[in-house]
Amino acid sequence: MSQTTTGMANPSRTFSNVKNVILSAHKNTGAHDKVSFYDTWAENYEQDVELLDYRAPFLAAECVNSFFSGDREKATVLDVACGTGLVSSHLKKMGFHHFAGVDGSMRMLELAKKTGLYQQLTQCLLGHDPIPVEVASFDIVIIVGALSIGQVPLTVISELCEATKPGGYVCMTTRGNADNREYKAELEQINKALEEEEKWSRVTVVEVEEWEKSVSEQDSGYIPGAIYLYQKSLKHSQLL
Ligand SMILES: C[S@@+](CC[C@H](N)C(=O)[O-])C[C@H]1O[C@@H](n2cnc3c(N)ncnc32)[C@H](O)[C@@H]1O
Repeated sequence: MSQTTTGMANPSRTFSNVKNVILSAHKNTGAHDKVSFYDTWAENYEQDVELLDYRAPFLAAECVNSFFSGDREKATVLDVACGTGLVSSHLKKMGFHHFAGVDGSMRMLELAKKTGLYQQLTQCLLGHDPIPVEVASFDIVIIVGALSIGQVPLTVISELCEATKPGGYVCMTTRGNADNREYKAELEQINKALEEEEKWSRVTVVEVEEWEKSVSEQDSGYIPGAIYLYQKSLKHSQLL
């Protein structure tokens, strides 16, 4: 039997189970509903996203790793919507050591705690409560798999920038499939506006064709996704 970062895998899970779980989540409307959904999914989450071939945590970690030129041993990472800890576990393999995580789901946070990766884990309903960290306190702020329609609202982007040290990095991902296209376009507009205000500068944007397997009845194969990496400006650090 294979193992996830949070325990032994359940041998009976199939792609069809995953499809049903995700399609059921589309019925959840408010943020509280969504987070409750993750509480119920937490136990099977890692195994299910493996069946989905969900590569976002690895791809985003690799993107940060390839541009970060500071001291990995000292760098502090804020893993926003950390879930069970997949993103930080990839970053750890790449030489990063100091992780703090926030998520709305208590059950996801309990599993993240079991990994032993995080020095600090805090529950926070993103978009409703401010991210509970000090301004300009992290070298890297990363959010993977949570910026999409019906999940974390786009108002959180300026908070991600705020939490980052001057010269630090913000890494974000989103899906590029039909139901998320409008959200993705808005996210890109906000990123651009922050760049025009010289709050940060664009390091790279990576469009990925095969982001994860589609669960939609309409299309088969993979849906696309994107990774955005920005570097916080040194100039306006006091003004955010
Ligand atoms: C698809 S999982 C991604 C987890 C992890 N980053 C990964 O890539 O495996 C989305 C995570 O976002 C969290 N989430 C969704 N909406 C949220 C909100 N409004 N506030 C806080 N957490 C939220 C869920 O609890 C869940 O852990």
